[in-house]
Amino acid sequence: MSRLLVTGREKLNGETYVQGAKNSTLPILAATILTKGENVIYNCPELSDVEASSRILRYLGCDVKRYHHTLLVKCDTVNRSDIPDELMRKTRSSIVFLGAVLARTGRAKLSFPGGCEIGPRPIDLHLKSLREMGVEIKEKHGYLDCRAPRGLVGAKIALSFPSVGATEDIIIAACLARGTTTITNAAREPEICDLADYLNHCGAKIYGAGEGVVVIDGVTSLNGVQHTIIPDRIVAATLMACAAVTGSKITLKGIIQSHLASVIPIFEDAGCKIRCSSGNLEITSPQKLSSMRIVRTMPYPGFPTDAQAPLLAAACVADGTSVFVENIFENRYGHISELVRMGANIKVEGKVALVDGVDSLYGATVEASDLRGAAALVVAGLCADGTTDIGGVKYLERGYESLEVTLSSLGANVKKI
Ligand code: UD1
Repeated sequence: MSRLLVTGREKLNGETYVQGAKNSTLPILAATILTKGENVIYNCPELSDVEASSRILRYLGCDVKRYHHTLLVKCDTVNRSDIPDELMRKTRSSIVFLGAVLARTGRAKLSFPGGCEIGPRPIDLHLKSLREMGVEIKEKHGYLDCRAPRGLVGAKIALSFPSVGATEDIIIAACLARGTTTITNAAREPEICDLADYLNHCGAKIYGAGEGVVVIDGVTSLNGVQHTIIPDRIVAATLMACAAVTGSKITLKGIIQSHLASVIPIFEDAGCKIRCSSGNLEITSPQKLSSMRIVRTMPYPGFPTDAQAPLLAAACVADGTSVFVENIFENRYGHISELVRMGANIKVEGKVALVDGVDSLYGATVEASDLRGAAALVVAGLCADGTTDIGGVKYLERGYESLEVTLSSLGANVKKI
């Protein structure tokens, strides 16, 4: 089991590229199942979640090769429609394979994803929508047995919540369905646009991705293409938090400023100066952060739930009280008990966390229990006195590519052991 040793109080400086977005790569890999011919997907981060999706593709009969950050995927020889429990459990987003496998083979048998570290992960919106598209679904013994005996048919789908995964699942399934599918109250995250851009390039007819209403006209076939994954806005926000807590100035390269529109003002409120130009973001942080006042997580374009944990860690050493309201996932404060071990002053009441800034945190032995919570502990370790020994690195590696290498290149003292 790897651990990270972070010795705090080193200033960061310099520049670094931001990796490709995990949350774009996973649905796009699932969507390759719809295509014939070769896909060349550039800027794929090297992450355990991406490896898990590649394993699912291979199991289904696809040919997947990786050359550094490029994945070559050929799905001409898909020869099964089941995904074993062991592969489904590797990544929570494996449910996005449901729409893809159904669209390609008319059948899908996969295990029901259970709850996870950040709370229950229901899939009722996925299942209801697919039923509306003509899919018969039997749920038994922890498995979903899905069939579309007359093929998938376009439908008018109204989501009761703009679920990212459900929107992606429906878009993918609708591409090869008969007729037109309309999704209202669709999720508007940039990763949905990246998925739609990829699929449209393959020959799909998706209109309105990134807006609340998405319309998909079904087509009969899709071809593999070359596609470059967008930069990861959550990794960018995490690195900004790393600079913020260390009073540093760093430049993030290859970002898309509009994707960070709800995040940048929070750092500015905390006293950081941000300059963006031609895909670069420079953050200059004060010696002492001001409080972040209120941070409410919301569906995009609101403040992302995935950036809550790293920002909350930064608020621990800000001057005054910051309030966080977690509106997306029920159980997303797992990192707080570990931050308290490091000297943070935080109180949680339901979905609200009150963070009273302290002068400094101190190094301690802590355990991460989820991906973004792990990132929060790294942020805290960077500003703590002494060394923080972080366990649960496997969670970090689901979403951050060699974070210890990136931070070391910026001058931090971070070692993986
Ligand atoms: C995606 C992201 C994840 C991010 C989340 C919210 C990927 C791979 N993961 O997860 O990093 O934190 O969006 O931005 O892209 N819900 C239901 N029923 C459903 C589906 C969802 O009740 O059928 C609820 C969830 O429990 C949660 C909320 O809707 O409370 C948001 O979930 P959703 O947007 O679906 O998140 P994911 O797609 O799982």
